[in-house]
Amino acid sequence: MAPAPDARNVLRVETDGPEGTEDFAARFARTLRAGDVIALHGELGAGKTCFVRGLARGMGLSAQVSSPTFALLHAYEGTLPLHHLDAWMSARGEAFLRDGGAAWLRSDGVCAIEWAERVADWLPPERFEVRLEHAGEERRRIEVRWTGPEDRLGALAAESWPTSGSSP
Ligand SMILES: Nc1ncnc2c1ncn2[C@@H]1O[C@H](COP(=O)(O)OP(=O)(O)OP(=O)(O)O)[C@@H](O)[C@H]1O
Ligand SMILES: [Mg+2]
Repeated sequence: MAPAPDARNVLRVETDGPEGTEDFAARFARTLRAGDVIALHGELGAGKTCFVRGLARGMGLSAQVSSPTFALLHAYEGTLPLHHLDAWMSARGEAFLRDGGAAWLRSDGVCAIEWAERVADWLPPERFEVRLEHAGEERRRIEVRWTGPEDRLGALAAESWPTSGSSP
């Protein structure tokens, strides 16, 4: 059957542990460019911070990634910087984004936002939407979707994947 017209803009994987989620995110990270926004969704403990840890590794950043829940924002410097925002406290997140944070975050690097649905009004229309769901104690279903018209995921989908750990 021919794939649905927008199928090239969606990638789904299941991982069997935090390493699988990190490895997948690290591979995905190599497709990122300055200005990209990654909106992360998923309940507590779904693996949003774990995914960002993988992004940092894939972007060649050696920083220790931890949850920015209370700091609001962690910035990891590199050739392509990674800005890691947590919108759990939505009022603070919105205030920051409204007061110039939205433009600043996207200016020179990649921006990953946990609890992105809480600051939905501030997200650019073209972005990566990443959804993580529990599918067992150590199993997670991950969907990555590019919302723009361009093909941003086809090359990644065409790569070969290990049969366990993470597979699309
Ligand atoms: N397949 C998996 N992928 C990611 N994390 C996993 C997986 N299996 C187990 N885990 C565990 O689930 C937890 C995920 O925590 P993480 O901080 O990344 O979640 P989060 O979505 O950022 O939560 P929060 O909403 O509190 O910020 C970790 O303890 C991790 O070890
Ligand atoms: Mg987190």
